Amino acid sequence: MNDGIINILAIESSCDETSAAVVQNGKVLSNVIATQKVHERFGGVVPELASRAHMQHIVPVVDVALKDAGVDKKDITAVAFTQAPGLIGSLLVGACFAKSFAQASGLLLIAVHHMQAHVLAHFIENKPEFPFLCLTVSGGHTQIVLCRDYLDMEVLGETIDDAAGEAFDKVAKMLGLPYPGGPLIDKYAAEGDPLRFKFPMSEMKDYEFSFSGIKTSVLYFLQAQRKLDPEFAEKNIKDICASVQYTIVNMLLTKLRKAAKQLNIKHVGIAGGVSANSGLRKALLAEGEKLGWQVYIPKFEYCTDNAAMIGITGYHKYLKGEFADMTVSPTARAAW
Ligand code: KG4
Ligand code: ZN
Repeated sequence: MNDGIINILAIESSCDETSAAVVQNGKVLSNVIATQKVHERFGGVVPELASRAHMQHIVPVVDVALKDAGVDKKDITAVAFTQAPGLIGSLLVGACFAKSFAQASGLLLIAVHHMQAHVLAHFIENKPEFPFLCLTVSGGHTQIVLCRDYLDMEVLGETIDDAAGEAFDKVAKMLGLPYPGGPLIDKYAAEGDPLRFKFPMSEMKDYEFSFSGIKTSVLYFLQAQRKLDPEFAEKNIKDICASVQYTIVNMLLTKLRKAAKQLNIKHVGIAGGVSANSGLRKALLAEGEKLGWQVYIPKFEYCTDNAAMIGITGYHKYLKGEFADMTVSPTARAAW
């Protein structure tokens, strides 16, 4: 290996994106993402189809990531992969690939926690100060994370039922929109009136969230309105989306505000797929301005699932000497 150069090949395959990246000394050289279109017509991710698509995508995706980075296979120092959490079949494809690649080339192996990686995505292009408070909002998780150092994180609270992304996707499905509906709600919301319809905000203790209530209330609301006018949803889609998004964003920010105040933290960010939401991004910036926070928002490509965030986490684990051995297996659920 070249003196002082640490090239991490990173693999992400926890859900429905197959991604590979090359990270050199903490700098992202490439980040290739193959999205699986096959799930769209089913209204959600079909685990078995996801695993098969990962198997088809993984070799070409890694190939392109190495080529884009201009790094030869023989110059890779270590292989990092998403070990948990996620769909077990999907994780297995990435884990088996990473282990085989590492073993064939005699490389070090690094197991990465997907949610920790979403938080560390902030450090790809920025350097938030510690302690850093991160609201991690994805299709499977909604967490407030206290980040004391790169690998020293604590989940202060999370959702007790649905994740915020799931709430967006389920409401979108009720409106007849294809999966994943989050980005479409965002698009319609941009032209709608957020105060036109009122949906209840759940009141949870400490830093907990709950999104099953808003989902049910939108369902009953649409059922009642569709009885009066079968085309109600189509006619009012912009205002419905804006009102739902407004309520979800409010619920998220209420807890983030509470945590930042109680812990007296001024460096605050959002991560995960839902952090691509323009309503949330705008509201966080406004909140930061009002409360004197330094706000961090990742670039779009680092919000949704990507291997660059696995690579940056792998790099910090490499620096700390946190390696996995060949007996490591993926797990669908994982505590931090
Ligand atoms: O982090 P991610 O790519 O995958 C998981 O780890 O789950 O997050 C995917 C979630 C989906 O629920 C998707 O609808 C949501 O992020 N999402 C959005 C937006 N972009 C992605 N939700 C609301 N507005 C968006 N612009
Ligand atoms: Zn994710």
